[in-house]
Amino acid sequence: MREADRDTLTQRTAEALVQTRRAVALTGAGVSIESGIPPFRGPGGLWEKMDPMEVAHIDAFRRDPEKVWKLLIEGMQAVLSVARPNAGHVGLARLEQLGYLQSVITQNVDGLHQAAGSRDVIEFHGTFAWQRCQNCGSRCKTGQVDLSRIPPRCSCGGIYRPDCVFFGEMIPPQHLARAHQLVARCDVLLVVGTSATVQPAAMMPLLAKESGARVIEINPEPTPLTGRVSDYFIQGGAGAVFNDILVCVEDFHAPGAHRHAPR
Ligand code: OAD
Repeated sequence: MREADRDTLTQRTAEALVQTRRAVALTGAGVSIESGIPPFRGPGGLWEKMDPMEVAHIDAFRRDPEKVWKLLIEGMQAVLSVARPNAGHVGLARLEQLGYLQSVITQNVDGLHQAAGSRDVIEFHGTFAWQRCQNCGSRCKTGQVDLSRIPPRCSCGGIYRPDCVFFGEMIPPQHLARAHQLVARCDVLLVVGTSATVQPAAMMPLLAKESGARVIEINPEPTPLTGRVSDYFIQGGAGAVFNDILVCVEDFHAPGAHRHAPR
C-alpha cells in the first residue's frame, strides 16, 4: 500500500469516527503482537508449534488437564503476566474516552484493552485473568491460585481452568447477544488484528456490513474480509495505524476544530 493511500484511508477513518460516534471495534491477537504476545496463525503463530485440537479443545482438557496446563496454559500465563498495552490498545481506549468508540469486542484473553483504559470490553473468548473450577464453577483470580501443583485445584477438589472459551465450547450467551446487538447497530466497525477465521467472531464484520455499517480493517496482511467485506483496508501494524488515526481525530476534536470537521 502506498503511503498516500494509507494517509487518505487514515483520514477517512478519522472522519467517519468523528461524524458517526457509533463505532465498535472487533480485535484479535494481532493487536497484542506489539505487546510481545504471539498470534495463533501465521509466522511464529502458536498453532504452528502445537495442534489446537490437542491443547485448546475442551475434550483435550477433560482428557488430560495436566498436559494442557503444561503445554499451553503455563506458557501463555508467563507471556501474559509481563505483557503491557501498546499504542493500538491505547489508541482504542483514547477513542472511547473521546466519545468516538462505544465498545471493544475482543477475541483476546490478555486483558490488555482494560489495562490501556478501555472500559466497555466484551471478552468474547473469556479471560486468563480468572480461573474457574471445572467441578463447582467457582471463580478465583489467577494470581491467587496455587500453581505449585499442576493442574491447580479448587478447595472442593475440582480442577481449575482459565475462564476462557476452549474450542468445542459455546461463547457465553450474554457476550454473544451483546456483541450481535452492538455490531448490528454500529455505523463503523473497526476490525483490528484478526485473521477473521474463527466463528462466530468472524461473522461480526458481515453482520455489520449487512446492517449498513462501514467496515474498516487494520492489519499488515489481507484476510478473507479484505476486498469483500471491508470498505477500507489500512495495511499496517495496529500501533502505528492508531497513532496516525488519533492524530487526525484529535485534530477534529480540538477546540474550534468544528470549523474544519467533516460534514
Ligand atoms: P490470528 O493469530 O488468527 O491472526 C492474527 C492476525 O493479526 C493476522 O491476521 C495478522 O496478519 C495480524 N497481525 C500481525 N501483526 C499485527 C500487528 N502488528 N497489528 C495488527 N495486526 C497484526 O488471531 P485471531 O484472529 O485473534 O481462539 O484468532 C482468533 C482465535 O483463534 C483466537 O481468539 C483463538 C484462536 O484459536 C480460541 O482460542 C478459542
